[in-house]
Amino acid sequence: MADPQHLPTIGTIGAGHIGSTVARLAQAAGIDVVLSNSRGPSSLEDLAQDIGSHVRAGTTAEAAASDIVVLTVPLLTLTSLDPELLAGRIVVDTMNHYPERDGTIPALDSGATTSGLTAAHFPDARVVKGLNNIVHSHLLALARPSGASDRSALPIAGDDAAAKAEVTHLLDALGYDALDAGPLSEGWRFERGREAYTLPYAADPEALRASTPGARPEGARPASTEDLRRALAEA
Ligand SMILES: NC(=O)c1ccc[n+]([C@@H]2O[C@H](COP(=O)([O-])OP(=O)(O)OC[C@H]3O[C@@H](n4cnc5c(N)ncnc54)[C@H](OP(=O)(O)O)[C@@H]3O)[C@@H](O)[C@H]2O)c1
Repeated sequence: MADPQHLPTIGTIGAGHIGSTVARLAQAAGIDVVLSNSRGPSSLEDLAQDIGSHVRAGTTAEAAASDIVVLTVPLLTLTSLDPELLAGRIVVDTMNHYPERDGTIPALDSGATTSGLTAAHFPDARVVKGLNNIVHSHLLALARPSGASDRSALPIAGDDAAAKAEVTHLLDALGYDALDAGPLSEGWRFERGREAYTLPYAADPEALRASTPGARPEGARPASTEDLRRALAEA
């Protein structure tokens, strides 16, 4: 059970749109963050400084030593990471499959989920799918304090109940309610192309639905736990 007084430390593997947005939310919450990428800390020092005093640049190994690791790299690069890197760690897997970026992945064609790939590559990690179904700009815009009437919910899926409790606690600190969508195998319900993927947080979901694949929605709107529950059920 997560201790409500204890704020976890976060390490991000990947410091692009999502990694840096998570760091900004963490900075606002007073959570310490280590940002990392493949090019090393010197490439991230300016970004860390720009975000704030709770954020520093580090190596992937330093990021991986945090309480919770946010794995947020292109899916294509998953297999380039050392499988030992995340052994025993709680990992929030934000990755989605974009065929135009990641190419065809036969295991996904035959029905595996992206998190199934992550769990297979990091067999000793405590993988929780999350932070993958919302565009980074909406993630930043919709964060609200606990109890706010316009607070949004984000789905999580995973097989490790204690890891999900820690991630729920983290999301709460970052400004979101968490909705447990079940085991990791249910993560497909909020992957790309599903009702719970980006649409609940789009001010104009119909325009987004009608737009070309991969298009980014403009305005954000809050999505309550009930809104999200409905979207997951429609998957
Ligand atoms: N953008 C969104 O709104 C959004 C929303 C939900 C989920 N996602 C998913 O989240 C993941 C990240 O998306 P993003 O938009 O944040 O991507 P991004 O802006 O392209 O950033 C990717 C980050 O990963 C780093 N990286 C790449 N290969 C790496 C490796 N082998 N080891 C360590 N770091 C590596 C990159 O830095 P270097 O190349 O310098 O290493 C960069 O910091 C993707 O799987 C995406 O599908 C994105």
